[in-house]
Amino acid sequence: MKQYAVFGNPIAHSKSPEIHLAFATQFGIDLHYERLLVEECKFAPHAMRFFELGLGANVTVPFKQEALTFADELSEEAKIAGAVNTLSKIGDTIKGDNTDGVGLVRDIRDNHGVSFKSKTVLIIGAGGAARGVLLPIVQENPHSIYIVNRTPAKAQDLATAFLPHGSIYPLSFETLNAVTTPFDIVINATSVSLSGEGLNLTPAIFSRDTLAYDMMYSKDPTPFMQFASESGAVALDGLGMLVEQAAKSFEIWHGVTPETQQVIRAMREVL
Ligand code: ATR
Repeated sequence: MKQYAVFGNPIAHSKSPEIHLAFATQFGIDLHYERLLVEECKFAPHAMRFFELGLGANVTVPFKQEALTFADELSEEAKIAGAVNTLSKIGDTIKGDNTDGVGLVRDIRDNHGVSFKSKTVLIIGAGGAARGVLLPIVQENPHSIYIVNRTPAKAQDLATAFLPHGSIYPLSFETLNAVTTPFDIVINATSVSLSGEGLNLTPAIFSRDTLAYDMMYSKDPTPFMQFASESGAVALDGLGMLVEQAAKSFEIWHGVTPETQQVIRAMREVL
């Protein structure tokens, strides 16, 4: 049977096996997909052993950078993201891709019908999660992309590093809290929702026409989503992004595009 896996630490919470098996059922593809818990610093030997038989692997925290080094070839998205979440064995070569940004764009644009074209976009956070989604967002031709981060120098560095591919305007929280014009799309790419914390944002960045998107997901709305809703915005979590990034990986491995709506609904029911 075709072997696939997801590498991470921790990994028990990963929904990737259920998602990939649900996709496989749609096409009658027979595959084995397992969670692989790998000790920190042991990614490369485990991945090497897996790919003796395995055909594809997803990679999650904390191994996305190590997967970038492990791959023999990289997609443009992976190079710019500086991280790989999808490894594929093609002949004797391991190709590295990053499907997070495509997953985010497909969820917002296709599942929720909100186009990025000519919109003002604010990204909160300048870590790996933010960097991982920048290229596919830029490719949607928004009017402008702003990035704000608790540590402003990291937002500045990310904007500078991204310059060859498009303009991103760094802001500090002080500047952001003084803005009077709401953004069309606000994306929370920080890790605050993991700890149930909120961000110190002004309601002025949201309006009734704003889509507020938290890349994290949970059973209940995150503090960011609650604040955005109270400020008038439409708030969504990142469960759709999770399923869509998996769908893009599935496309890379199997050459077919799965139907995602029913899988998102099924995942929501068991949150
Ligand atoms: P990830 O790969 O999930 O992006 P990361 O690289 O550690 O993880 O980045 C976490 C992001 O969340 C950073 O932008 C971080 O801000 P700093 O660069 O200032 O550390 C942001 N973040 C984490 N906790 C935060 C908090 N309590 N308030 C605001 N931003 C926070």
